[in-house]
Amino acid sequence: SGIAILAIDGPSASGKGSVAQRVAEALGFAYLDSGALYRLTALAAQEAGIDWSDEQGLAQIAQSLDVRFEKDLTFLGGQDVSGLIRSEVVGAGASKVAAFAAVRQALLARQRNFAVAPGLVADGRDMGSVVFPGARLKIFLTATATVRAERRYQQLIARGESADLVAITRDLQSRDERDAARKEAPLRQWDDALLLETSQLSLDQVVECVLSWWKTRT
Ligand code: C5P
Repeated sequence: SGIAILAIDGPSASGKGSVAQRVAEALGFAYLDSGALYRLTALAAQEAGIDWSDEQGLAQIAQSLDVRFEKDLTFLGGQDVSGLIRSEVVGAGASKVAAFAAVRQALLARQRNFAVAPGLVADGRDMGSVVFPGARLKIFLTATATVRAERRYQQLIARGESADLVAITRDLQSRDERDAARKEAPLRQWDDALLLETSQLSLDQVVECVLSWWKTRT
């Protein structure tokens, strides 16, 4: 099709969300935060009293998610859950529900629907491998565990939340391990993805790098 896809995958707190958003804006493309869909599934399940281990129940929830993205805000059944889905608890829940094949299957079509002309920037764990295997450019964006924990810590502090660097580091590690060890769409740098190690780079520098790579593909 004529729709250009830029896939950015990577571990949690790698900064891929901020980068993807900025790149989408610069290119005039749509943006898909696929992690938000897993977070919303975990949250909606919790609110419906469905256990994070109930694969079929979760798949039902994922299938029928009533979600709306509006600028920086995310609505679930009309309720603004933008802050709620960013919590560490919901993030851990997202990683649990995301391990189920039925949940991933239920979210597949919804993710692909984000691809509209002239293009889409999508971030997650399996954008370049499963959801958009034909993406024009695939990037694996990462940073060391220490740098990612520090970035998440600063983010929480900036939002006025309390944060504990040791706990954050531990949570990131267990989430990454679960995401990498799972059978379904594991977190991994795939052969056709370019590695972008951002530990020593500013957000501006990362955005510039992605845009320059994109230019070579157009
Ligand atoms: O990217 P984010 O941290 O918001 O994702 C939350 C969780 O959702 C991840 O830990 C991962 O388990 C899951 N996820 C996924 N596939 C994606 C995006 C997120 O499995 N494409």
